Amino acid sequence: MTDGRLLSGRHVAPSILAADFSRLGAQVQEVLAAGARVIHVDVMDGHFVPPISFGPVAVSALAQQIHEAGGYIDVHLMVSQPERQVTEFAAAGADGITVHAEATAHLHYALQAVREAGCRAGVAICPATPVEVVADVAAAGVLDLALCMSVNPGWGNQKLIPHSYTRLARLRQLLAPEIALEVDGGVHAQTAPAVARAGANLLVAGSAVFSAADPGAAFRELTALAWPD
Ligand code: DX5
Ligand code: ZN
Repeated sequence: MTDGRLLSGRHVAPSILAADFSRLGAQVQEVLAAGARVIHVDVMDGHFVPPISFGPVAVSALAQQIHEAGGYIDVHLMVSQPERQVTEFAAAGADGITVHAEATAHLHYALQAVREAGCRAGVAICPATPVEVVADVAAAGVLDLALCMSVNPGWGNQKLIPHSYTRLARLRQLLAPEIALEVDGGVHAQTAPAVARAGANLLVAGSAVFSAADPGAAFRELTALAWPD
């Protein structure tokens, strides 16, 4: 288990969804060696979103490697009724588990379950969901991270929806500073500076990192572009 304090820093979080799965461990090693410390894991169930990606087995396969490097496993559950999956992902080695507000009738309960499983708790919201949905769970003290989807969830390599910049700024304003703000979808060299300026401190990047010839170099370039200071 990696210290959740990593979440208060500024990080590009490579998403393994875009990695070459025939050599997943080697791809993860490339970004860890380049300094990546938050590894984003996209779980899709074929129900909340049409595609099916992978489950806890992928988390347990990578857990030792990521934790030995001091890395944090950031699981993004794009699944219906995520509260049913929390224990299994925690046991597989997740450090943080993010559930979609739209995927559960019991958001507070789901976040509490994540905390009780020993993980940091995140809520993700789709582009049409009012940002205010995070306010009550934040005020109730069960939230560590808000994930603002900047594309519709389910697929990598989509174009960032420009209204996301406004949503990020509004989220940053309504959340206490200790709650991390993550953005996911369409983050690349052209969009990373603006999402960082809008207040996101965790930038998920799938294709921008793993579709590059050198994922480690792409990770470093993106980080430098997002936070030039
Ligand atoms: C989309 C996933 C993303 C995806 C991002 O549903 O949640 O994490 O991997 O991919 P890119 O960075 O290629 O838009
Ligand atoms: Zn994601």
